[in-house]
Amino acid sequence: MMWDTIILGAGAAGMMAAIEAGRRGRKVLVIDHAKAAGEKIRISGGGRCNFTNLGIAPERFISQNPRFALSALKRFTQWDFIARMDAAGIGWHEKTLGQLFCDGSARQVVDMLLQDMDHAGVTLWLGCALGEVRRVQAGFVVETARGPQEAASVVVATGGKSIPKMGATGYGYKVAQAFGLPLVETRPALVPLTFAEQELAWIVPLAGVATEARITCGRQAFQEAVLFTHRGLSGPAVLQISSYWREGDGIVVDLLPGMKLGETLRAAKAAQGKASLRTVLGRWLPERLARHLEDAAGVTGVMAELSGATLDGVAAGAQDWRLVPVGSEGYRTAEVTLGGVDTAALDGRTMEAKGVPGLYFIGEVVDVTGWLGGYNFQWAWSSGWAAGQVA
Ligand code: FDA
Repeated sequence: MMWDTIILGAGAAGMMAAIEAGRRGRKVLVIDHAKAAGEKIRISGGGRCNFTNLGIAPERFISQNPRFALSALKRFTQWDFIARMDAAGIGWHEKTLGQLFCDGSARQVVDMLLQDMDHAGVTLWLGCALGEVRRVQAGFVVETARGPQEAASVVVATGGKSIPKMGATGYGYKVAQAFGLPLVETRPALVPLTFAEQELAWIVPLAGVATEARITCGRQAFQEAVLFTHRGLSGPAVLQISSYWREGDGIVVDLLPGMKLGETLRAAKAAQGKASLRTVLGRWLPERLARHLEDAAGVTGVMAELSGATLDGVAAGAQDWRLVPVGSEGYRTAEVTLGGVDTAALDGRTMEAKGVPGLYFIGEVVDVTGWLGGYNFQWAWSSGWAAGQVA
């Protein structure tokens, strides 16, 4: 069968591109091997989909060429997506740090996109495996479980390698390679970090404790919640820094950002000599963490009995906690994949492969990775929209 545009992958980016191409009157086929479209949207943001961020800015995206994403992000902005949510009557709210979530359910976003696809006359094949993509005279042939399909344009929107259980395959990278496009090495990102036994001995007793902290790796720092787990450290601040961390790098954790704990503890010693260290720390930290810091310092007496050096040691332990992750939990739990199709090989305005007219790459398969907080969906919407104007 002959199509104008075949879109590989019915995720956030693929659906957006399909809607736009369909609205232009193109005969569009979307193919996905999953049983349902937009599965990552459905489970995202704890079921409420953090669908964009008010603070979209190029420095919040990681890429070999951080400016590449700018054109698409400017042409279809967070406000454009918000307008679609409003038009569809989907309620939303800002949670924190500019992060926008559905008031109700992420399923509403999936339903909106499916409905828009339907109205745009897009054909959707689910549960359909994909094979090779070949160039032919009129465009491309895509091998599928339902036979070879021909189209003038092919848009690769099959995402990254994150969460193979949900159908992530790395298929898009193979298509890129088959057409001679360069790849930037991929690695799991927005992922919990893991630690060696010595550090785990400190972390594991606190499993389940969450607290706001500032985590620094090199020149990058994030101040958000940190979660202690049985496997290591998680929570938004850790996921964020994981995108910048490389094997061998150390990280520094400040459990009381913005405080001068050494000075504060000395003042507390003078003012509340009879209080225990854990009681004093417990004013700013979860009780279990305060107790753990007291135990770690080997402190038994009350504040009045503690030397200045001991208090400084406690302060350093809490505010200058240095540790070296041994790895991450990997693609099994990573929210996204760093790296992918090298942006140098793509046109930033259209997402078309420079040497292969008619072949497009959008969304997570491209070497553009956003911070945690709605940035990755905005990249999927923006790049999908850009390709949908021309593919
Ligand atoms: P996406 O992965 O969405 O879609 C790719 C599609 O291609 C899938 O439907 C897949 O089945 C299909 N496919 C893959 N290989 C195939 C093959 N070989 N044959 C056929 N089909 C194939 N981001 C954000 O901004 N806010 C958030 O709240 C969250 N939350 C979140 C939670 C969790 C648990 C995860 C794992 C991820 C997030 N993200 C997120 C990240 C976000 O989900 C991600 O960046 C986008 O879904 C990427 O959109 P794409 O369309 O590029 O790929």
